Amino acid sequence: MPGEAAAIGYLVSTMGTAGRCDMLGIMRAMIIDRFGGPEELRLADVQRPEPGAGEVLVRIAFAGVNPADWKIREGWLKDFVPFRLPHILGFDGAGVVAALGKGVDGLRIGDRVVTASNQGKGAWGTYAEYAVSDLDRVVPLADSIDFRAAAALPTAGITSWEALFNVGGLRAGQQVLVNGGAGGMGSWCVQLAKMAGAAVAATCGPANVEYVRSLGADLPIDYRAQDVAAVVRRWAPEGVDLIVDTVGQGTLLQSVELVKPGGILACIGTLIAGEPQPDAARAGARGVCMMPTMSSFERQGAQLRALVEALQAGRIRAPAIEVLPLAAAADAQRRIQAGHVRGKIVLDVAGAASA
Ligand SMILES: NC(=O)c1ccc[n+]([C@@H]2O[C@H](COP(=O)([O-])OP(=O)(O)OC[C@H]3O[C@@H](n4cnc5c(N)ncnc54)[C@H](OP(=O)(O)O)[C@@H]3O)[C@@H](O)[C@H]2O)c1
Repeated sequence: MPGEAAAIGYLVSTMGTAGRCDMLGIMRAMIIDRFGGPEELRLADVQRPEPGAGEVLVRIAFAGVNPADWKIREGWLKDFVPFRLPHILGFDGAGVVAALGKGVDGLRIGDRVVTASNQGKGAWGTYAEYAVSDLDRVVPLADSIDFRAAAALPTAGITSWEALFNVGGLRAGQQVLVNGGAGGMGSWCVQLAKMAGAAVAATCGPANVEYVRSLGADLPIDYRAQDVAAVVRRWAPEGVDLIVDTVGQGTLLQSVELVKPGGILACIGTLIAGEPQPDAARAGARGVCMMPTMSSFERQGAQLRALVEALQAGRIRAPAIEVLPLAAAADAQRRIQAGHVRGKIVLDVAGAASA
C-alpha cells in the first residue's frame, strides 16, 4: 500500500540520523494543555520521551483512536490517573522500535511493533511521533500486517478478549450476543467469538447489517427495524450463554432476560455517569452473572500477543478502518463521540511528522 510504504520509508529514513528536530530530541505531537472539549487539541513540538528501565520507545506510524481518548480529554479520569499537562492522548499505536530502555531484551531498534501505550499509568500516549510503553505491551509484527490494522487492534481487541474469554469464558458451540457489533470493539468481538467456535448474533444500525455479516456474525440484528429481544429469543429460546454489551446507555436493558440461567452479561465500562443499568436484582434472581467489564492492565500484554498471533494467522482480519491525518484528531474524536463510527479511525502520525 502506498501510504504504508511511505510511512515505513519515512520511519526508516529518519531514525537515528534524523533532521534537526530529531537531533534536539523534539517531536511533533497532538497535545492538550488542559482538559476540555475537542478544541483543546493542538499540534505542537514537544520533548521526545526517553524510555526508562524495562520500557521501549516506539516511533509511531499510525495511532488508533478510542472513545476513551475523548473521555480522558474531557477530564473524566483526571482524579484517578496521574496525568501531567500538557498531555498527549492515545492508547494505541503501531510503528517501529526507536530506542530500548535498560534491561530490555528480545526487541531490536527498527523492529515493526504494535503497542498499548503507558497512557493508562498517566504517561504520554500515541498521538505523537514517539511513545513509550512497557516491554510487555510492545508486540512484534510480521511484515504482512499493515500498521493501520495493527493500530486498530490494542484497546478494542484487548477489551473484547477480556469480555469474551476472561470474563465470559466463551467456548465452542455457545451462543453469544454482541450489542454494538459494528464499532471498534464489536468488530473484533464478533470475529473473536467466531474464531472460538461460537454462534454470534450482533446488533447494529441498518447501514451496518452487511458489514456485521461480513465480520462473520450469524445473526446481524438491525436495532432500528427489529425488536432485538424478540429476535434473540427466537434464536436462543433458552437464552444465550453470553452477552457482551459494548454500547450500554440503556440500549439493551432487557439483556438480563436474554441470558440463560448460569450465563454471563458482560457490560463494558463506558464511564458515562448515570447511564441506565440492567436490573442487577433481576439478574441475581435469574442466576445470570452480571459483570462490569474493563480492560485489565496486567493481562493486556498477553492478550495483545494472542490477538497479533490471530491476526497474523488470518483467523481475524482488520475491521473497517478510516485513516485521518494527525491534524484531524479533534474531528476523529468528535466522530467517535457521536457514537456511530464503523470499525476504527486511525491517525496517520508519520505523515504529519513528514509534512
Ligand atoms: N473500560 C474499558 O476498559 C474500555 C475499553 C474499551 C472500550 N470501552 C468502552 O466501550 C464502549 C465501546 O467502545 P468502542 O471502541 O467499540 O466504541 P465505538 O467504536 O465508538 O462504537 C461505535 C459503534 O456503536 C454502535 N452503536 C451505537 N448505538 C448503538 C445501539 N443502540 N445499538 C447497537 N450498536 C450501537 C455503532 O453502530 P451503528 O452505527 O450501526 O449504530 C458504532 O459502530 C465505549 O464506551 C468505550 O469507552 C471501555
